[in-house]
Amino acid sequence: MPGLMQENLHDFHAFHERIIVNEPVAMSYPVTRMRRLRRTETLRRMVRETRLSRDDLILPLFVVEGRGIREPISSMPGVFRHSVDTLVSEAKRVRDAGVPGVILFGIPSEKDARGSGADAVDGIVQRAVEGIKSAEPDLCVMTDVCLCEYTDHGHCGIVEADDVRNDPSVERLAATALSHARAGADIVAPSDMMDGRVAAIRASLDQHGFDDVAILAYAAKFASAFYGPFREAAESTPQFGDRRSYQMDPPNRREALREMRLDLEEGADVLMVKPALSYLDVLADAKREFDVPLAAYHVSGEYAMIHAAAERGWIDGDRAMDEALISIKRAGADWILSYAAVEVASRLQS
Ligand code: PBG
Repeated sequence: MPGLMQENLHDFHAFHERIIVNEPVAMSYPVTRMRRLRRTETLRRMVRETRLSRDDLILPLFVVEGRGIREPISSMPGVFRHSVDTLVSEAKRVRDAGVPGVILFGIPSEKDARGSGADAVDGIVQRAVEGIKSAEPDLCVMTDVCLCEYTDHGHCGIVEADDVRNDPSVERLAATALSHARAGADIVAPSDMMDGRVAAIRASLDQHGFDDVAILAYAAKFASAFYGPFREAAESTPQFGDRRSYQMDPPNRREALREMRLDLEEGADVLMVKPALSYLDVLADAKREFDVPLAAYHVSGEYAMIHAAAERGWIDGDRAMDEALISIKRAGADWILSYAAVEVASRLQS
Protein backbone atom coordinates (compact mmCIF):
# COMPACT_ATOMS: atom_id res chain seq x y z
CA MET A 1 0.00 0.00 0.00
CA PRO A 2 2.38 2.79 -1.04
CA GLY A 3 1.40 6.26 0.20
CA LEU A 4 -0.58 5.03 3.20
CA MET A 5 0.52 6.47 6.54
CA GLN A 6 1.30 4.10 9.37
CA GLU A 7 -1.95 4.73 11.30
CA ASN A 8 -4.09 4.45 8.18
CA LEU A 9 -2.42 1.20 7.47
CA HIS A 10 -3.41 0.09 10.94
CA ASP A 11 -7.04 1.11 10.24
CA PHE A 12 -6.94 -0.78 7.01
CA HIS A 13 -5.92 -4.00 8.73
CA ALA A 14 -8.50 -3.48 11.45
CA PHE A 15 -11.17 -3.01 8.81
CA HIS A 16 -10.21 -6.23 7.12
CA GLU A 17 -10.12 -8.12 10.37
CA ARG A 18 -13.68 -7.02 11.03
CA ILE A 19 -14.78 -8.26 7.65
CA ILE A 20 -13.09 -11.56 8.29
CA VAL A 21 -14.79 -12.00 11.66
CA ASN A 22 -18.00 -10.85 10.01
CA GLU A 23 -18.76 -7.81 12.15
CA PRO A 24 -21.11 -5.30 10.56
CA VAL A 25 -19.22 -2.57 8.68
CA ALA A 26 -20.40 0.32 6.56
CA MET A 27 -19.16 -1.16 3.31
CA SER A 28 -19.25 -4.91 3.05
CA TYR A 29 -19.10 -7.88 0.77
CA PRO A 30 -18.10 -8.11 -2.83
CA VAL A 31 -17.77 -5.11 -5.07
CA THR A 32 -17.82 -7.41 -8.05
CA ARG A 33 -21.17 -9.16 -8.18
CA MET A 34 -21.46 -11.56 -11.13
CA ARG A 35 -25.17 -11.96 -10.43
CA ARG A 36 -25.95 -8.35 -11.46
CA LEU A 37 -25.94 -9.32 -15.11
CA ARG A 38 -27.89 -12.55 -14.58
CA ARG A 39 -30.95 -10.95 -13.03
CA THR A 40 -33.34 -10.95 -15.96
CA GLU A 41 -33.72 -12.76 -19.24
CA THR A 42 -33.10 -9.46 -21.03
CA LEU A 43 -29.75 -9.03 -19.30
CA ARG A 44 -28.85 -12.65 -19.87
CA ARG A 45 -29.61 -12.19 -23.56
CA MET A 46 -27.39 -9.11 -23.65
CA VAL A 47 -24.33 -10.84 -22.20
CA ARG A 48 -24.75 -14.21 -23.92
CA GLU A 49 -21.45 -15.20 -25.53
CA THR A 50 -22.52 -18.09 -27.74
CA ARG A 51 -25.67 -18.55 -29.76
CA LEU A 52 -26.85 -21.60 -31.57
CA SER A 53 -28.26 -20.82 -34.98
CA ARG A 54 -30.23 -23.00 -37.37
CA ASP A 55 -27.39 -22.33 -39.82
CA ASP A 56 -25.03 -24.35 -37.61
CA LEU A 57 -27.01 -27.56 -37.93
CA ILE A 58 -26.77 -30.56 -40.25
CA LEU A 59 -29.13 -33.54 -40.09
CA PRO A 60 -27.86 -37.09 -40.72
CA LEU A 61 -30.32 -39.24 -42.71
CA PHE A 62 -30.45 -42.99 -43.39
CA VAL A 63 -31.66 -44.25 -46.74
CA VAL A 64 -32.74 -47.79 -47.63
CA GLU A 65 -34.06 -49.58 -50.73
CA GLY A 66 -37.81 -49.80 -51.33
CA ARG A 67 -40.79 -47.45 -51.46
CA GLY A 68 -42.91 -45.75 -48.86
CA ILE A 69 -40.58 -46.79 -46.06
CA ARG A 70 -40.26 -44.80 -42.84
CA GLU A 71 -38.92 -47.34 -40.41
CA PRO A 72 -38.15 -46.25 -36.83
CA ILE A 73 -34.75 -47.04 -35.31
CA SER A 74 -35.44 -48.38 -31.82
CA SER A 75 -32.31 -47.02 -30.15
CA MET A 76 -32.75 -43.56 -31.70
CA PRO A 77 -36.25 -42.23 -30.94
CA GLY A 78 -37.40 -39.82 -33.66
CA VAL A 79 -34.91 -41.15 -36.23
CA PHE A 80 -36.02 -43.27 -39.20
CA ARG A 81 -34.72 -45.20 -42.14
CA HIS A 82 -36.29 -43.76 -45.28
CA SER A 83 -36.65 -45.02 -48.81
CA VAL A 84 -35.75 -42.43 -51.46
CA ASP A 85 -39.35 -41.22 -51.90
CA THR A 86 -40.03 -40.56 -48.21
CA LEU A 87 -36.50 -39.19 -47.83
CA VAL A 88 -37.35 -36.47 -50.33
CA SER A 89 -40.37 -35.42 -48.20
CA GLU A 90 -38.11 -35.46 -45.15
CA ALA A 91 -35.69 -33.17 -46.98
CA LYS A 92 -38.52 -30.69 -47.46
CA ARG A 93 -39.19 -30.77 -43.70
CA VAL A 94 -35.50 -30.10 -43.09
CA ARG A 95 -35.55 -27.12 -45.42
CA ASP A 96 -38.75 -25.78 -43.85
CA ALA A 97 -37.11 -25.94 -40.42
CA GLY A 98 -34.30 -23.75 -41.75
CA VAL A 99 -31.61 -26.43 -41.45
CA PRO A 100 -29.21 -25.83 -44.36
CA GLY A 101 -27.77 -29.30 -44.89
CA VAL A 102 -28.11 -33.05 -44.59
CA ILE A 103 -25.59 -35.89 -44.61
CA LEU A 104 -26.68 -39.16 -46.19
CA PHE A 105 -25.89 -42.71 -45.11
CA GLY A 106 -26.86 -45.49 -47.50
CA ILE A 107 -27.92 -48.95 -46.41
CA PRO A 108 -27.85 -51.25 -49.46
CA SER A 109 -29.89 -54.45 -49.66
CA GLU A 110 -26.82 -56.42 -50.75
CA LYS A 111 -23.33 -56.38 -49.34
CA ASP A 112 -20.10 -57.98 -50.51
CA ALA A 113 -16.40 -58.10 -49.64
CA ARG A 114 -15.40 -55.03 -51.66
CA GLY A 115 -18.49 -52.95 -50.91
CA SER A 116 -19.58 -52.82 -54.56
CA GLY A 117 -22.72 -50.90 -53.67
CA ALA A 118 -20.71 -47.94 -52.41
CA ASP A 119 -19.78 -46.61 -55.86
CA ALA A 120 -22.59 -48.13 -57.95
CA VAL A 121 -24.04 -45.62 -60.44
CA ASP A 122 -27.56 -46.55 -59.35
CA GLY A 123 -26.55 -47.15 -55.71
CA ILE A 124 -28.82 -46.19 -52.86
CA VAL A 125 -26.99 -42.99 -51.87
CA GLN A 126 -26.49 -41.94 -55.49
CA ARG A 127 -30.25 -42.13 -56.10
CA ALA A 128 -30.99 -40.38 -52.82
CA VAL A 129 -28.68 -37.48 -53.75
CA GLU A 130 -30.36 -37.12 -57.14
CA GLY A 131 -33.81 -37.23 -55.56
CA ILE A 132 -33.09 -34.59 -52.94
CA LYS A 133 -31.12 -32.29 -55.24
CA SER A 134 -33.90 -32.24 -57.83
CA ALA A 135 -36.61 -31.57 -55.22
CA GLU A 136 -34.63 -29.23 -52.94
CA PRO A 137 -31.77 -27.76 -54.95
CA ASP A 138 -30.87 -25.25 -52.24
CA LEU A 139 -30.35 -27.85 -49.55
CA CYS A 140 -26.65 -28.68 -49.09
CA VAL A 141 -26.34 -32.42 -49.65
CA MET A 142 -23.37 -34.16 -48.11
CA THR A 143 -22.57 -37.85 -48.34
CA ASP A 144 -20.76 -40.06 -45.89
CA VAL A 145 -17.99 -41.79 -47.82
CA CYS A 146 -17.21 -45.14 -46.25
CA LEU A 147 -17.39 -48.82 -47.07
CA CYS A 148 -18.67 -50.24 -43.77
CA GLU A 149 -22.36 -50.08 -44.73
CA TYR A 150 -21.58 -51.86 -48.01
CA THR A 151 -19.14 -54.59 -47.00
CA ASP A 152 -20.33 -57.99 -45.76
CA HIS A 153 -17.61 -57.95 -43.06
CA GLY A 154 -18.68 -54.48 -41.87
CA HIS A 155 -15.21 -52.92 -41.94
CA CYS A 156 -14.53 -49.51 -43.47
CA GLY A 157 -12.11 -50.84 -46.08
CA ILE A 158 -10.81 -53.83 -48.01
CA VAL A 159 -9.96 -56.79 -45.78
CA GLU A 160 -7.16 -59.25 -46.53
CA ALA A 161 -6.12 -61.89 -44.01
CA ASP A 162 -8.20 -60.21 -41.30
CA ASP A 163 -6.38 -56.93 -41.88
CA VAL A 164 -8.01 -53.76 -43.19
CA ARG A 165 -5.63 -52.83 -46.01
CA ASN A 166 -5.03 -49.12 -46.39
CA ASP A 167 -4.13 -48.47 -50.01
CA PRO A 168 -6.65 -50.71 -51.77
CA SER A 169 -9.31 -49.19 -49.47
CA VAL A 170 -8.29 -45.66 -50.47
CA GLU A 171 -8.86 -46.54 -54.13
CA ARG A 172 -12.40 -47.76 -53.37
CA LEU A 173 -13.11 -44.67 -51.26
CA ALA A 174 -11.97 -42.33 -54.04
CA ALA A 175 -14.23 -44.14 -56.50
CA THR A 176 -17.11 -43.86 -54.02
CA ALA A 177 -16.61 -40.13 -53.49
CA LEU A 178 -16.47 -39.60 -57.26
CA SER A 179 -19.75 -41.47 -57.76
CA HIS A 180 -21.39 -39.27 -55.09
CA ALA A 181 -20.10 -36.15 -56.86
CA ARG A 182 -21.47 -37.44 -60.18
CA ALA A 183 -24.87 -37.89 -58.52
CA GLY A 184 -24.79 -34.24 -57.43
CA ALA A 185 -23.38 -34.19 -53.89
CA ASP A 186 -22.20 -30.75 -52.77
CA ILE A 187 -19.80 -32.11 -50.18
CA VAL A 188 -18.26 -35.56 -49.71
CA ALA A 189 -17.33 -36.65 -46.21
CA PRO A 190 -14.86 -39.53 -45.85
CA SER A 191 -15.36 -41.24 -42.46
CA ASP A 192 -13.18 -44.31 -42.92
CA MET A 193 -9.89 -43.08 -41.32
CA MET A 194 -7.60 -44.64 -43.95
CA ASP A 195 -4.35 -42.73 -44.45
CA GLY A 196 -4.13 -40.60 -47.58
CA ARG A 197 -7.78 -40.81 -48.53
CA VAL A 198 -8.37 -37.05 -48.62
CA ALA A 199 -5.54 -36.54 -51.13
CA ALA A 200 -6.79 -39.43 -53.27
CA ILE A 201 -10.38 -38.16 -53.22
CA ARG A 202 -9.30 -34.59 -54.05
CA ALA A 203 -7.19 -35.81 -56.98
CA SER A 204 -9.96 -38.00 -58.33
CA LEU A 205 -12.61 -35.27 -58.05
CA ASP A 206 -10.36 -32.70 -59.74
CA GLN A 207 -9.39 -35.08 -62.53
CA HIS A 208 -13.03 -35.60 -63.40
CA GLY A 209 -14.07 -31.96 -63.33
CA PHE A 210 -15.52 -31.86 -59.80
CA ASP A 211 -13.08 -29.30 -58.47
CA ASP A 212 -15.96 -27.40 -56.84
CA VAL A 213 -17.10 -30.36 -54.70
CA ALA A 214 -15.83 -29.80 -51.16
CA ILE A 215 -14.38 -32.36 -48.75
CA LEU A 216 -15.51 -32.54 -45.15
CA ALA A 217 -12.93 -34.82 -43.55
CA TYR A 218 -13.84 -36.89 -40.51
CA ALA A 219 -10.31 -36.00 -39.47
CA ALA A 220 -10.22 -36.78 -35.75
CA LYS A 221 -12.55 -39.76 -35.53
CA PHE A 222 -12.15 -41.82 -32.40
CA ALA A 223 -12.84 -45.53 -31.89
CA SER A 224 -15.86 -44.79 -29.74
CA ALA A 225 -18.50 -46.76 -27.87
CA PHE A 226 -20.93 -43.96 -28.71
CA TYR A 227 -21.46 -45.26 -32.27
CA GLY A 228 -23.54 -48.21 -31.03
CA PRO A 229 -27.02 -47.07 -32.12
CA PHE A 230 -25.70 -45.95 -35.53
CA ARG A 231 -24.37 -49.41 -36.23
CA GLU A 232 -27.80 -50.83 -35.53
CA ALA A 233 -29.34 -48.23 -37.84
CA ALA A 234 -26.80 -48.70 -40.63
CA GLU A 235 -26.23 -52.44 -40.14
CA SER A 236 -22.50 -51.74 -40.10
CA THR A 237 -21.24 -53.59 -37.04
CA PRO A 238 -17.91 -55.28 -37.90
CA GLN A 239 -18.37 -59.05 -38.20
CA PHE A 240 -14.97 -59.65 -36.59
CA GLY A 241 -12.62 -57.47 -34.55
CA ASP A 242 -13.20 -53.75 -34.11
CA ARG A 243 -12.15 -50.46 -35.71
CA ARG A 244 -9.23 -49.67 -33.43
CA SER A 245 -6.58 -50.29 -36.08
CA TYR A 246 -7.86 -47.31 -38.07
CA GLN A 247 -9.96 -45.06 -35.79
CA MET A 248 -8.16 -43.02 -33.13
CA ASP A 249 -7.44 -44.11 -29.58
CA PRO A 250 -9.65 -42.00 -27.23
CA PRO A 251 -6.84 -40.87 -24.86
CA ASN A 252 -4.92 -39.09 -27.65
CA ARG A 253 -5.18 -35.33 -27.99
CA ARG A 254 -2.01 -34.25 -29.82
CA GLU A 255 -2.42 -37.05 -32.32
CA ALA A 256 -5.83 -35.60 -33.18
CA LEU A 257 -4.21 -32.31 -34.17
CA ARG A 258 -1.76 -34.21 -36.32
CA GLU A 259 -4.58 -36.10 -38.05
CA MET A 260 -6.37 -32.83 -38.72
CA ARG A 261 -3.23 -31.10 -40.02
CA LEU A 262 -2.61 -33.98 -42.44
CA ASP A 263 -6.16 -33.88 -43.80
CA LEU A 264 -5.88 -30.13 -44.23
CA GLU A 265 -2.61 -30.48 -46.14
CA GLU A 266 -4.22 -33.16 -48.30
CA GLY A 267 -6.96 -30.72 -49.30
CA ALA A 268 -9.80 -30.98 -46.80
CA ASP A 269 -12.09 -27.91 -46.79
CA VAL A 270 -13.73 -28.63 -43.43
CA LEU A 271 -12.36 -30.69 -40.54
CA MET A 272 -14.49 -32.78 -38.22
CA VAL A 273 -14.11 -34.06 -34.67
CA LYS A 274 -16.19 -37.10 -33.76
CA PRO A 275 -17.80 -37.83 -31.32
CA ALA A 276 -18.46 -34.35 -29.97
CA LEU A 277 -19.12 -34.20 -26.23
CA SER A 278 -16.33 -36.44 -25.01
CA TYR A 279 -13.87 -34.63 -27.30
CA LEU A 280 -14.59 -30.94 -26.69
CA ASP A 281 -10.93 -30.40 -25.73
CA VAL A 282 -9.90 -31.64 -29.17
CA LEU A 283 -12.43 -29.30 -30.74
CA ALA A 284 -11.14 -26.34 -28.74
CA ASP A 285 -7.55 -27.20 -29.71
CA ALA A 286 -8.55 -27.36 -33.36
CA LYS A 287 -10.28 -23.97 -33.13
CA ARG A 288 -7.04 -22.39 -31.92
CA GLU A 289 -4.87 -24.23 -34.40
CA PHE A 290 -6.72 -24.08 -37.74
CA ASP A 291 -8.53 -21.40 -39.70
CA VAL A 292 -10.90 -23.66 -41.64
CA PRO A 293 -14.51 -24.32 -40.65
CA LEU A 294 -14.82 -27.03 -38.00
CA ALA A 295 -17.55 -29.61 -37.72
CA ALA A 296 -18.44 -31.79 -34.77
CA TYR A 297 -20.59 -34.92 -34.88
CA HIS A 298 -23.00 -35.30 -31.97
CA VAL A 299 -23.20 -39.03 -32.58
CA SER A 300 -25.92 -41.64 -32.19
CA GLY A 301 -24.96 -42.73 -28.67
CA GLU A 302 -24.87 -39.15 -27.43
CA TYR A 303 -28.34 -38.58 -28.85
CA ALA A 304 -29.66 -41.90 -27.53
CA MET A 305 -28.41 -41.29 -23.97
CA ILE A 306 -30.36 -38.06 -23.67
CA HIS A 307 -33.53 -39.69 -25.00
CA ALA A 308 -33.14 -42.73 -22.76
CA ALA A 309 -32.73 -40.63 -19.62
CA ALA A 310 -35.58 -38.32 -20.63
CA GLU A 311 -37.91 -41.28 -21.26
CA ARG A 312 -37.32 -42.39 -17.69
CA GLY A 313 -38.05 -38.89 -16.49
CA TRP A 314 -34.53 -38.50 -15.15
CA ILE A 315 -33.67 -35.37 -17.13
CA ASP A 316 -35.44 -32.73 -19.17
CA GLY A 317 -34.65 -34.02 -22.66
CA ASP A 318 -35.20 -30.78 -24.59
CA ARG A 319 -33.04 -28.74 -22.24
CA ALA A 320 -30.33 -31.39 -22.14
CA MET A 321 -30.27 -31.56 -25.95
CA ASP A 322 -30.03 -27.76 -26.27
CA GLU A 323 -27.29 -27.65 -23.63
CA ALA A 324 -25.32 -30.40 -25.38
CA LEU A 325 -25.43 -28.58 -28.71
CA ILE A 326 -24.54 -25.17 -27.28
CA SER A 327 -21.54 -26.68 -25.51
CA ILE A 328 -20.34 -28.08 -28.84
CA LYS A 329 -20.72 -24.63 -30.40
CA ARG A 330 -18.96 -22.95 -27.46
CA ALA A 331 -16.00 -25.33 -27.77
CA GLY A 332 -15.51 -24.20 -31.36
CA ALA A 333 -17.77 -26.04 -33.81
CA ASP A 334 -19.04 -24.12 -36.82
CA TRP A 335 -21.17 -27.03 -37.98
CA ILE A 336 -22.93 -29.50 -35.71
CA LEU A 337 -24.12 -32.79 -37.15
CA SER A 338 -26.97 -33.92 -34.95
CA TYR A 339 -29.98 -36.23 -35.14
CA ALA A 340 -31.76 -33.51 -33.15
CA ALA A 341 -31.08 -30.83 -35.81
CA VAL A 342 -34.70 -30.37 -36.89
CA GLU A 343 -36.25 -30.39 -33.39
CA VAL A 344 -33.60 -27.95 -32.11
CA ALA A 345 -34.05 -25.72 -35.17
CA SER A 346 -37.80 -25.63 -34.55
CA ARG A 347 -37.23 -24.58 -30.93
CA LEU A 348 -34.83 -21.85 -32.10
CA GLN A 349 -37.45 -20.58 -34.54
CA SER A 350 -40.18 -20.22 -31.91
C1 PBG B 1 -19.06 -44.96 -40.80
C2 PBG B 1 -19.62 -44.07 -39.79
C3 PBG B 1 -19.95 -44.34 -38.44
C4 PBG B 1 -20.57 -43.20 -37.95
C5 PBG B 1 -20.57 -42.27 -38.97
N1 PBG B 1 -19.96 -42.82 -40.09
C6 PBG B 1 -19.84 -45.58 -37.65
C7 PBG B 1 -18.54 -46.13 -37.29
O1 PBG B 1 -17.48 -45.58 -37.55
O2 PBG B 1 -18.58 -47.23 -36.74
C8 PBG B 1 -21.15 -43.03 -36.59
C9 PBG B 1 -22.19 -41.98 -36.46
C10 PBG B 1 -23.02 -42.07 -35.23
O3 PBG B 1 -22.76 -42.86 -34.30
O4 PBG B 1 -23.97 -41.30 -35.16
N2 PBG B 1 -17.75 -45.29 -40.72
